[in-house]
Amino acid sequence: MCGIIGYIGKNNALKVITDGLKQLEYRGYDSAGIAIKNNNEIKIFKSVGKIKELEKKIDYTIQSDIGIGHTRWATHGSVNITNSHPHKVGSITLVHNGIIENYEQLKQELIKKNYQLKSDTDTEIACGYIDYLYQKDKNIITTLNKIKDIFKGSYAFAILVDNDNYLYATRKDSPLIIAKGENENYLASDVPAILKYTNQYYLLDNYEIAILEKDNIKILKDNKEIKKELLTFNYNIETSLKNGYDHFMLKEINEQDKLVESLINIYLQDKKTLLNKMPDFKKYNQIHIVACGSAYHAGLVGKYLIEKYANTKVYVEVASEYRYNKLFFDKKTLVIIISQSGETADSLASLRIAKENKIDTLAIVNVYGSSIAREASKTLYINAGCEIAVATTKAYTLQLLMLSFIALAMGIQKELIDDSSFEDIKKYYTKLPQLMHNEIKRDLKNIAKNIYKKNNIFFIGRGIDYALSLEGSLKLKEISYIHSEAYPAGELKHGTISLIEKNTPVIAIVTDENIYEKTISNIKEVASRGAYVILIISKHLDKDGDFYNEKIVIENTNSLINSLTAIIPLQLLAYNIALLKGCDIDKPRNLAKSVTVE
Ligand code: M6R
Repeated sequence: MCGIIGYIGKNNALKVITDGLKQLEYRGYDSAGIAIKNNNEIKIFKSVGKIKELEKKIDYTIQSDIGIGHTRWATHGSVNITNSHPHKVGSITLVHNGIIENYEQLKQELIKKNYQLKSDTDTEIACGYIDYLYQKDKNIITTLNKIKDIFKGSYAFAILVDNDNYLYATRKDSPLIIAKGENENYLASDVPAILKYTNQYYLLDNYEIAILEKDNIKILKDNKEIKKELLTFNYNIETSLKNGYDHFMLKEINEQDKLVESLINIYLQDKKTLLNKMPDFKKYNQIHIVACGSAYHAGLVGKYLIEKYANTKVYVEVASEYRYNKLFFDKKTLVIIISQSGETADSLASLRIAKENKIDTLAIVNVYGSSIAREASKTLYINAGCEIAVATTKAYTLQLLMLSFIALAMGIQKELIDDSSFEDIKKYYTKLPQLMHNEIKRDLKNIAKNIYKKNNIFFIGRGIDYALSLEGSLKLKEISYIHSEAYPAGELKHGTISLIEKNTPVIAIVTDENIYEKTISNIKEVASRGAYVILIISKHLDKDGDFYNEKIVIENTNSLINSLTAIIPLQLLAYNIALLKGCDIDKPRNLAKSVTVE
């Protein structure tokens, strides 16, 4: 989604802001722009396409110590220069993340006041409306305090006002951080934009207003200055760099074994450590897991684990549906929200609905200090570091790991897992990083070559393997643009099998011994109709047969964590196929890293 950076300080604002925008490229965007002040005059540069197109338009000899920049992911109005940010109306220049839902009504008011609007965006209307109020108030803080009662929807604004030398920011339901440097200060929608310059920051909360000078940051709430805690990013800058890999996605796939090892070391030293970090699950008799995209797929794996190891009913739902459903809560319900970014609009809204109903919430989040992390009753961080590739890999895997910890802890608390079983299970976790490492190093280029020209690829599995199929299919379609569907293996013959013809690739996952025979029968059904079967199978289930064309045998661990090794070939297949197709792997078309609008 859109990205924001603002700068005031000793260095050339144009250079710092361009650099920050490059760090935000991963969020997904279709146009970009920068506004700076030079000799008290606002200069705006905009372009459609990549930041390098914007760079061609900028004269970097222009000196400026203050400015704002934006990468736009179009929501209102098509992708063109007029619709891209920054917008300037009257004395106000701003960039915006979020959506102003009542923009149509505000637009009519502005038209009556003779405002000339050029774009199709809600943002220009917000800019015009702020100008309209400011012309009456003559005080930008008074104006920014007013908009909270006028603008419906979500916003993070970075604002320049003609004839002063401050950088202003305010937000509602769209993230913004204010970062502190030496004789320079920043604001940004995301940590990577400024990580190169500083790791000291304030989290701006809803309706707070920040006023930045190069050597001072003031934050106001309800018109009064407040003191906020200065926080430190614990991200290693390395996690936001490519470090020699061709793509962030490949780098992030490669980081997984080490990240898994360190989370295991934090949570699984012994039973006491695990239980101390977890809520008391005994009081819940049902769990709702709510999330979007890959995080939802992780939730589906979590359902199998929690139901199996803790004998507790779990419902998993996509957040954009959950938030509008009739919900059947009782006091013994726990709502678990899973989100890498911690800012996904639908997941955040679902969390808030649970809280309004006085239901306990638990968040599984990667980004420290994100809205979901802060608003949940309890948060478990997965410690994946910065995830830059739009297609999630390491965060998904660590979500699976955290869900396995939850299933384990719940099983112990409910006295379904005794000490000796715990010790046995722990041994499997100790072996896991090495097994993952072996999978990461597996060469799947040849298999990818055999299927990358296909138009349709199917994934099948049963139970937990079906949940993994969904993630494998999503990974493939989002980065390679090949149409793909994941199906419960037993469901194919109820319609979809009609699409299987000679050489249609079917990737079949078999790690669950309880339904091994059934899944193999389903694989034989597609093989006998000519499918090109790529079998991903746990070693202990592997037998020779004539029902597959390619076979990937993965080392067996324990059903709590088998999925962490089984997912890696799926990630690598998607990566290698997208590579062969020449796709923009880290920044797939139309997608955004963090989906902060409904
Ligand atoms: O930040 P979140 O985990 O809440 O994001 C949820 C989805 O938008 C995300 O997993 C998306 O599906 C990924 N692009 C998948 O790779």
